[in-house]
Amino acid sequence: LFFHDCFVRGCDGSVLLNTTNSKNSDTEREGPPNQNSLRGFEVVDEAKAAIEAACPDTVSCADIVAYAARDASYFLSDRKINIQMPGGRYDGRESFSNETDQLPGPFSNLTALQGSFAAKGLTSDEMVTLSGAHTIGRARCLFFSSRFSEMDSALAAKLRAQCGNDNNNVNQDDVTPDVLDKQYYQNVVDKKVLFTSDAVLNSTETITQVTENANMAGAWERKFEKAMETMGKIGVKTIGNQQGAEIRKVCWRVNS
Ligand code: HEM
Repeated sequence: LFFHDCFVRGCDGSVLLNTTNSKNSDTEREGPPNQNSLRGFEVVDEAKAAIEAACPDTVSCADIVAYAARDASYFLSDRKINIQMPGGRYDGRESFSNETDQLPGPFSNLTALQGSFAAKGLTSDEMVTLSGAHTIGRARCLFFSSRFSEMDSALAAKLRAQCGNDNNNVNQDDVTPDVLDKQYYQNVVDKKVLFTSDAVLNSTETITQVTENANMAGAWERKFEKAMETMGKIGVKTIGNQQGAEIRKVCWRVNS
């Protein structure tokens, strides 16, 4: 959620909006990279309701998404990843489905990945570092079923059996599916990653980083903390009630 929020209109909670005042326009939630992919909106809504009850008009939805990413990283890494995530983001009032084309896709090649991250001020190194998030979570078969022949054969056989339907979900990291750890990089080397966008990190240009992340204890964790902090600064709105920014009362709609 945090990645998809920050890459479109900055980290401003625009990804959470179901509706805006720009009538007849689909929001980011309806954009191809988001629809049927993003989940957890109800968790953000619940957090927002609790915060509004305790301390109204103070914590933006954009900050809730950022803190949720921070806390999820902490717990999923067995408390090894501590992101120093600043707050103070304001929420945007616009969200357009067609702007989600700024997000890279699972079929992107290395040049496209580097280009989409560079467009947001992130380096190739940060792109490699942040891709390590694919050490947790699930993905739908339609995004990788064309690549079985390029994968480790045992993993491909297992995935084929799980992928009777294009919309079935499988673990992104077959080795340690629910831990935020550096296993992803070993998976890149072992051809045990799902997407083209993961597999291309095996390229000459990025393989040194991949093997360093895979082999040096703690190195990736420190880089991930920093890169998440940097991603959290993309296009941040800081002036409330100006430039179309506000603290939303409910995360899926703009204030009236
Ligand atoms: C490098 C470019 C990236 C591409 C092309 C990409 C693409 C994808 C795709 C296609 C899925 C599966 C969606 C579905 O099945 O509906 C996915 C899942 C996921 N991605 Fe990425 N992603 C990228 C970078 C990132 C970054 C930077 C992060 C976070 C820092 C991230 C975090 C996740 C997580 C946590 C999931 C699992 C979600 C779940 O289980 O619901 N990804 N990604």
